[in-house]
Amino acid sequence: MSETPVVRLEKDGDIGVIIVNYPPVNALGPGVSDGIIDCLNKANADPSIKAIVLMGDGRSFIAGADIRGFGTGRKRPPIGERTYDVLDASPKPVVAAIHGYALGGGLENALACHYRIAVPAAKVGLPEVLIGILPGGGGTQRLPRVVGAQVALEMITSGRHVPAPEAAKLGIINQVLPEGANLRDAAVAYARKIADIRPLPRVRDKTVTADPGIFDAMRKSIARRARNQKAPYNCIAAVEAACTLPFDDGIRREAELFGELENSDEAKALRYAFFAEREVAKLPDLPVGVAPRDFTAPAVIGAGTMGGGIAMSFADFGYDVKIMDATQPALDRGMERIRNNYATSVKRGSLAEDEMQRRLARIHPVAGYDDIRDCDVVVEAVFEEMDVKKPVFAKLDEVMRPDAFLFTNSSALDIDALADTTKRPEKVAGTHFFSPANVMKLLEVVRGAKSSPETLFTAMALGRRIGKISAMAGNTDGFVANRSRAPFNSEMVILLEEGCLPEQVDKVMVDFGYPMGPFAVGDLAGLDIGAAGRRRRALANPNYRKLPIADKLVEMGRYGQKTGAGWYRYEKGDRTPHPDPEVAAIIKSVAAEMGVPQKVFTDTEILQRLLFSSVNEACRILEEGKAYRASDVDVMWLHGFGFPRYRGGLMFWADGIGVRNVYNQIASWHQQYGERWAPSRLLRELAETNTPFREAKPAPFV
Ligand code: 3HC
Repeated sequence: MSETPVVRLEKDGDIGVIIVNYPPVNALGPGVSDGIIDCLNKANADPSIKAIVLMGDGRSFIAGADIRGFGTGRKRPPIGERTYDVLDASPKPVVAAIHGYALGGGLENALACHYRIAVPAAKVGLPEVLIGILPGGGGTQRLPRVVGAQVALEMITSGRHVPAPEAAKLGIINQVLPEGANLRDAAVAYARKIADIRPLPRVRDKTVTADPGIFDAMRKSIARRARNQKAPYNCIAAVEAACTLPFDDGIRREAELFGELENSDEAKALRYAFFAEREVAKLPDLPVGVAPRDFTAPAVIGAGTMGGGIAMSFADFGYDVKIMDATQPALDRGMERIRNNYATSVKRGSLAEDEMQRRLARIHPVAGYDDIRDCDVVVEAVFEEMDVKKPVFAKLDEVMRPDAFLFTNSSALDIDALADTTKRPEKVAGTHFFSPANVMKLLEVVRGAKSSPETLFTAMALGRRIGKISAMAGNTDGFVANRSRAPFNSEMVILLEEGCLPEQVDKVMVDFGYPMGPFAVGDLAGLDIGAAGRRRRALANPNYRKLPIADKLVEMGRYGQKTGAGWYRYEKGDRTPHPDPEVAAIIKSVAAEMGVPQKVFTDTEILQRLLFSSVNEACRILEEGKAYRASDVDVMWLHGFGFPRYRGGLMFWADGIGVRNVYNQIASWHQQYGERWAPSRLLRELAETNTPFREAKPAPFV
């Protein structure tokens, strides 16, 4: 029997079994599609074979096209000669046998087969939109013919993974196997059962129609989340074509619409983000073979907004979690907040009532340290003051079982100082969640000087277990995410001194793609929090750039949404920010007192003033060895701060402008504004050699 290296044909009596073996996830990498076609031709030519099974080795069916091949100019076979065409034209029936994932090109191949069966845990979907393209292997034409236009629109514009049982209800899967069944045996038996049925059921032979109104309705409904993007709209246009054109014309239309996307800026950025998110899990300087320790009994100290959100994160992913606070009223308030947060999700329809009850039942408020002594991991989330946190750590060290990990949710404080209050500094690290902790996906893991590799791998794995993306940061004031963001936070207030208004800056950033402007976000988080950090930094550094306008608002008790006024004013019970003439007057008077010349800013100036300041700081972080990669900074901005994903991340975006242009602008602001704009050494070196930020070689991690 002939074989290709990545796809092989085996025989099981009268059934040919084509097996894809391209680890780790059977993407359609080099040789895979050709291999499938080759095996299919052989199986069709073999008179002893009556029917054919297509399946994957290892952990998946086929996870889709090889994303690394996009944008490389790799030649693809013409329409008519692709696996999809060859599968669907096969004179012998082909059964796709799905386990793991059938995504993108994987599901498209499965839809080109005549039958599909799956194990219950399998997932299918067309997630191409998430990497800025559309299903280009017939998915936009075949899926609507199976599930109808409305469901296809929803699946293709969201890219969501559909579990096998739901896929069966939708008609995508012909049969879901019983739990524990052997996929290959079941697929062979299924193939034998349908071997003689003719005509072959081919998805392409079906027709689909739709009320033309659904396409415009979909365009309207995605307008907000699809802002500045093209792929979601091309997806809709392709499904529309499925409902208005004959199959082959629809396939040609799909190819045209795909061609418009493959090399778009949005697709490049989203592909970059996809790989950056996988790269961030790698800790290249830690010993290989150290396994993260499993944990079963987490505890959270502090039932404030962050502590509550962290406890919810554990509960949301099935963990029973204990939550503790210094006083019973504080604990009661914390539990009340948790209940309200869940209730809001139920009201919005994003959480079922019974699921809320299950999650709430997993959160156990406890009165004191005695109740958590058997927990194996603790996340401390008490008030952000060293003098408050240190005694908590000392106490935890005293009461917790000796192998328990002690993590802190500090957003800036020195991890080593906390570790040194314990006799187990190797078991201490930072696990910095972002607000709201149960929503934001970033977990910044902070490495102390004495944190052991096991502790760090465990903290990284902890994040993944509770649905976060974990990223490693060095122990530096503000770590990586907040430290790189800090200059942006200062610059946005300095812009006000020079003549901008909060609503003007917010509009620029929302137009850029942020879900909310930074001033509105400040009001949501609470302006008192930033003020405390500024006070601490001003005490430590006499040259610290003060922000008198921000300080003035806090002095006036304008803490943001919680006091009904901050950068904006708020109506009672309503979170809509309204520009406030009182704030405009404060800005004017402080600027006049400071004697700052006023000017009119363009949108580009505003955007670059904010983001370039952070690019410069990120370079400093890299040159100090506090982060592994520029792309880690990008992942942190995407998942910690809501940076628009279709722009890749802070550093990827800056690469689009060009390292030399960024450097020249920063150097000119250095002349104009002084030290705070001094270009970092790494930025200068990158500009001199014209090396993109994402190829910067940071110093060894410290
Ligand atoms: N192409 C290339 N590499 C891929 C890949 C793909 N489609 N899917 C996964 N990989 C790689 C990852 O980069 C990672 O590599 P690494 O180990 O070197 O970092 C490795 O496979 C394992 O991936 P994950 O860490 O993500 O593994 P998980 O088990 O957590 O997740 C998955 C598996 C759900 C399949 C996830 O990898 C995924 O979502 N992959 C992308 C799926 C996708 O977008 N498919 C559509 C592709 S576009 C397409 O098909 C176009 C067609 O319409 C023409």
